[in-house]
Amino acid sequence: MRVLVTGGSGYIGSHTLVTLLQERHDVFTVDNFSNSSPETFNRVMRLSNQTFDFEEADVNDADAMSSIFSAFEPEAVIHFAGLKAVGESEEKPLLYYQENLNGTMNLLAQMDKINCRNIVFSSSATVYGIPEFLPYTEDHPLNPINVYGRTKLWSEQIISDWAATDPSKSAMLLRYFNPVGAHDSGQIGEDPSGIPNNLMPFISQVAIGRRPYLNVFGDDFDTKDGTGVRDYIHISDLASGHVKALDYISQHKGVEAVNLGTGEGVSVLEMVHAFETASGQKIDYKIMPRRKGDLAANWADSRKAETLLNWKATKTIHDMCADTWRWQSQNPNGYEPQS
Ligand code: NAD
Ligand code: WQD
Repeated sequence: MRVLVTGGSGYIGSHTLVTLLQERHDVFTVDNFSNSSPETFNRVMRLSNQTFDFEEADVNDADAMSSIFSAFEPEAVIHFAGLKAVGESEEKPLLYYQENLNGTMNLLAQMDKINCRNIVFSSSATVYGIPEFLPYTEDHPLNPINVYGRTKLWSEQIISDWAATDPSKSAMLLRYFNPVGAHDSGQIGEDPSGIPNNLMPFISQVAIGRRPYLNVFGDDFDTKDGTGVRDYIHISDLASGHVKALDYISQHKGVEAVNLGTGEGVSVLEMVHAFETASGQKIDYKIMPRRKGDLAANWADSRKAETLLNWKATKTIHDMCADTWRWQSQNPNGYEPQS
């Protein structure tokens, strides 16, 4: 299938590109490199042994997107491009609404112009908000507790309204849980700029010696060991979920929201110990106060993905840590040239 991938140079986009290319999809990708490096594409091409076209462009730029859509004529779009830092979204709400909502609306408008009717959208478990029950099923109430989460919920709504205009349109809203890990080659992985916000990149920077210790945000939650519990999903499993979603929307019409998680909750301290085992490195940590807005625990009900997409996560916590460590130790400065 001819697939336009937005944000293909990012963490999830780059791993999904490898899987799409291995499955022989014809790919064009667009990225403005605001949170990634063009070096990613060299590595994706090497890993997949395939080439693809890309353009440095902003999904908000209607003229640039219009030319790309008329030249490539995608049959489907996978929309990763957007801003994703929860804390920053609270400080700059208008920027987040501008980037994430306008970007989505511009893409849908371009799709209409060339009669492209299929979209896979990067949503997030953050759309559920404070759990009324766990695991979250797709029909759990949607009450995101931050600006970033609202951009995901409202994008889901915009896409659903777009799809409702024509019964031949098809959209899949993929609600990711906590993506971690790296390609098992160690060639591509997560490369956050500045101080990582998320647990796994922080742990791996402690392991490589870039940070002295991990701050564990709270050990007094009502969880198995008092630390926060999340559903971590290996990035390669997440990538294969996108290819399954693409297969699904090419054969079915309408809108579906689907959780992509493992269905298992893992605590911060369990992750620290698993990383120590996988890497052979000691991870020093200090217990700190809770981080504002953090939930005690959440994890996915992953049965819908299994039934609808015939997809199930296969990688273990050990795989997630071992692959992160391979990427981090082979690329101590991420995609930056080694000094
Ligand atoms: P990322 O920042 O690594 O990737 C996003 C990519 O989009 C980057 O390469 C960035 O340069 C590009 N981009 C950003 N704004 C753009 C614009 N206006 N035009 C063109 N390109 C633009 O993030 P990721 O972790 O790969 O996340 C991908 C998507 O998945 C995002 O929409 C994110 O909100 C969503 N998501 C991520 C997580 C997570 O924990 N990583 C969880 C749930 C959902
Ligand atoms: C996981 C656990 C922290 C860092 C975020 C977004 C969510 C989604 C995924 C995009 C929590 C603890 C963390 C650290 C710690 N992104 N922690 N020390 O908060 O579940 O989800 O990323 O859609 O929207 O909110 O992930 O990795 O930040 O935290 O103790 O330095 O690790 O308190 O319990 P989170 P995370």
